[in-house]
Amino acid sequence: MNIAEINKKILKLKKEKNALILVHNYQLPEVQDIADYLGDSLELAKIAVNINVENIIFCGVKFMAESAKILNPEKNVILPDISAECPMANMVKSEGLLKLKKQHPEAKIQAYINTTAEIKSYSDICCTSSNSAKVANSVDSNKIIFVPDQHLGRYTETLVPDKEFILWPGSCPTHHRIHKEDIFKLKEQHPNAKILVHPECRLDVINAADHAFSTNGMVNYAKKSDATEFIIGTEKDMCYRLKKENPEKKFYPIKSAVCPNMKKITIDKVLKSLETLEPKIKLSDDIMKKAKMPLQKMMDIGRGD
Ligand code: 13P
Ligand code: SF4
Repeated sequence: MNIAEINKKILKLKKEKNALILVHNYQLPEVQDIADYLGDSLELAKIAVNINVENIIFCGVKFMAESAKILNPEKNVILPDISAECPMANMVKSEGLLKLKKQHPEAKIQAYINTTAEIKSYSDICCTSSNSAKVANSVDSNKIIFVPDQHLGRYTETLVPDKEFILWPGSCPTHHRIHKEDIFKLKEQHPNAKILVHPECRLDVINAADHAFSTNGMVNYAKKSDATEFIIGTEKDMCYRLKKENPEKKFYPIKSAVCPNMKKITIDKVLKSLETLEPKIKLSDDIMKKAKMPLQKMMDIGRGD
């Protein structure tokens, strides 16, 4: 079957199965093209709550689909490849987190949304890259255990200097591999380009940039900015959406920045998921109940970028 035939079948099945397709900004271009909604982790969580539909086909990684399920236990959330996990989300385990909490009983746990549902269930509040400082400011303690992304934690610490942060030593392998030399090389070739990077980058990369934004933050900035060229320090397929929505502007990706787990979702797998309504996200009622509280608190705070 060619892409056009697959897309036609997807369109027909969506109606038959009362389903909508939510797609993260890092997905393959052909998956982005079949999205009903495209967004970053906070935006997709918000959309999942607001759409009136029986089945959500979630094209992203597992923690995103789990968050949609936790916020909507009555809807089916289907992840077309159940092995599409964020490696950073698995870098913090509950045993280690509880041990750390015991050492700092007065600290509150702020969990990046890139965590398992179990870790969320032990956390006081969640955040995404779009609102980590706003969330940290809302926490009623001056000491925060921030898990699992040390880079986002360190960046947040610079924005919330009056609080003490205990950083978990995790990081996103895709963003950790971006070095400031990669950015400088592109800047040499494109001296007029604005540099936008994701807050999962190392702090020296963030400091070398003009702005650090969540993926939707980049979309909003690129649209509004008078600049016509941008160096994009994040997963390379972010540039597909940016280019599609701003055809008159130029976007320069870090070509080696690929998230292999995001790429596990293909349109063939989306079609299969619509046919079978599998694989569904399944979580215990107990975990869902406990993980909902920190997620809901974050949703109530909203965007910060
Ligand atoms: P955003 O919420 O900015 O889309 O980030 C999600 C993510 O996993 C970045 O690596
Ligand atoms: Fe996880 Fe990094 Fe992939 Fe985002 S880009 S899903 S943080 S591995």
